[in-house]
Amino acid sequence: MKRKTAYAATISALVLLGCQVSLGDDDSSDDDKHYALWQPQPGVDPVQNAAYVEECGSCHMAYPAGLLPARSWEKIMLGLDDHFGDNAELEPQLNRELTDFLLVHSADAAPYRRSRKVMHSLTTTEAPMRITELPYIRHEHDEIPDRLVTGNKQVGSLSNCDACHQQAARGSFSERQIRIPGVGRWDG
Ligand code: HEC
Ligand code: HEC
Repeated sequence: MKRKTAYAATISALVLLGCQVSLGDDDSSDDDKHYALWQPQPGVDPVQNAAYVEECGSCHMAYPAGLLPARSWEKIMLGLDDHFGDNAELEPQLNRELTDFLLVHSADAAPYRRSRKVMHSLTTTEAPMRITELPYIRHEHDEIPDRLVTGNKQVGSLSNCDACHQQAARGSFSERQIRIPGVGRWDG
C-alpha cells in the first residue's frame, strides 16, 4: 500500500513538473542575476524522493536522476553489490522502487535543459556509469586545475558536485552558485 501511494505521488509530481517547466538555470550571468533574487531555477529535475535521498545520498550526494540516461541508471542499479568498489545493495523491492523513480526522472525523460545537454553529448547507445564521464560534464570542468579538485582536501574528486555547487541538491548548477572550498567564487 505504502509503495502504491509513493508511486502515485511520484507520478503526480512528475505531471505537475511537466506542466511547469520551461526554464532552467542559465549559462548567462545576466539571467542568473535575476534568478539570484529568488529561488535558483533548476537546470535539472530536483530530487524529491525521500527514500532515494536516504539510500543513495549517504555516501555522496543523491545525484539528480536527470544527469544520466535511463540505460545508465539501469546498469548502476543492477550492479549495486559492486558499486565503484563499495557494496550498496538494496532489498529487491526497494531497488525496484528506486529504479522506477530514476527511470521516470532520467535524462531521456526529463524536460530540463541540462538533461537535454547530457543526451546530446552521448551516442544513442552509450551508457556511462558516471556523471563525471559524460562528455558534457567533462567539457564544463576541463579548465579547472586538478589542485582545486583532486588536490583539494575539501573536494576530493569531481564526483562531489555539492562541494562546489551550493545548490546542486535543488538541481541548480548555475555559475552564480559555485564556491570552490578554499578558493571562493568562480569567475571563469
Ligand atoms: C556505501 C556507499 C555508497 C552508497 C550507499 C551509494 N554509493 Fe554511489 N558511489 C559510491 C562511491 C564510493 C562512488 C565513487 C565515488 C568516486 O569515485 O569519487 C559512487 C559513485 C556513484 C556514481 C557516479 C558518480 C560520478 O563520478 O559521476 C553514481 C551515479 C552513483 N554512485 C549512484 C548511486 C546510487 C543510485 C545509489 C543508491 C542506489 C548509490 N550511488 C549509493 C558509494 C556509494
Ligand atoms: C571543484 C569544484 C566542482 C565540482 C566538484 C563540480 N563542479 Fe561543476 N563546475 C565547477 C566550476 C568552477 C564550473 C564552471 C567552469 C567554467 O566556467 O569554466 C562548473 C560548471 C558546471 C556546469 C556548467 C554550469 C553552467 O553554467 O553551464 C555543470 C552542469 C556542472 N558544473 C555540473 C557538475 C556536476 C553534475 C558535478 C558532479 C558530478 C560537478 N559539476 C562537480 C566546479 C565544480
